[in-house]
Amino acid sequence: MLEVKNLNVFYGKLQILWDLSINVGDESVGLFGPNGAGKTTLINTILGLVKPVSGEIVLDGESLVKMETDKIIKHGIAIVPQDRELFPFMTVEENLRTGNAYIARARKKYQERLDFVFEIFPVLKERLNQAAGSMSGGQQRMVAIGRALMSDPKVLILDEPSGGLQPSLVTEVFHRLKDLKKSVSVLVTEQNVRQALKAIDRGYILENGKIAMADTADNLAGNDHIRKSYLGI
Ligand SMILES: Nc1ncnc2c1ncn2[C@@H]1O[C@H](COP(=O)(O)OP(=O)(O)O)[C@@H](O)[C@H]1O
Ligand SMILES: [Mg+2]
Repeated sequence: MLEVKNLNVFYGKLQILWDLSINVGDESVGLFGPNGAGKTTLINTILGLVKPVSGEIVLDGESLVKMETDKIIKHGIAIVPQDRELFPFMTVEENLRTGNAYIARARKKYQERLDFVFEIFPVLKERLNQAAGSMSGGQQRMVAIGRALMSDPKVLILDEPSGGLQPSLVTEVFHRLKDLKKSVSVLVTEQNVRQALKAIDRGYILENGKIAMADTADNLAGNDHIRKSYLGI
């Protein structure tokens, strides 16, 4: 479905991603690596916010590399960014609505998308009229993920979804991700590799802008390098 092929990305003269290839099918895929490895840069390149010097990004047979970000989103990529800013003075419902207001295909399915978001995050149904900024950190995270789901994406990309959450909520977020992968392809970056490995099918290890390893979640969990460097075992 989503294929990234031989991507080379620079910031100025500094090369950040090196001949990077990954793919995401009907599955949930993790992207792990230390701070500064290039995870967010890869996401920003998929979204068209950063233009690669060379390489291809293909979604269902269609090239995204020359498309503008708004078109890429219309083609079915949704992102929950690292900063995840909501509109704090708008209600939960208004925030969710911004997730599909600009996408005709999704806007027609507004109620269906909303029901889907409620299925994943039932608590949001009771909070629809509450100002998003007055909710707990965990609930705001759910609104941010829900907003991305409103656009009816083929691929949902989450950049460090557990960041800044207390441990019990981290577990909750990954449980929901596990539910999600039944209906949408997921690409997720995470520092919390231990928990993420339980919620994904496959993962890539990104180190210094290069794919250092690619394997099933089970094999990664048992790998010595992963255990020492990412799981602290
Ligand atoms: N806008 C930018 N301009 C220049 N360098 C950047 C920019 N954004 C990130 N970098 C650098 O690119 C590298 C990869 O960063 P990033 O993609 O944010 O990594 P990660 O998300 O894995 O922590 C880092 O060395 C970072 O300092
Ligand atoms: Mg990042």
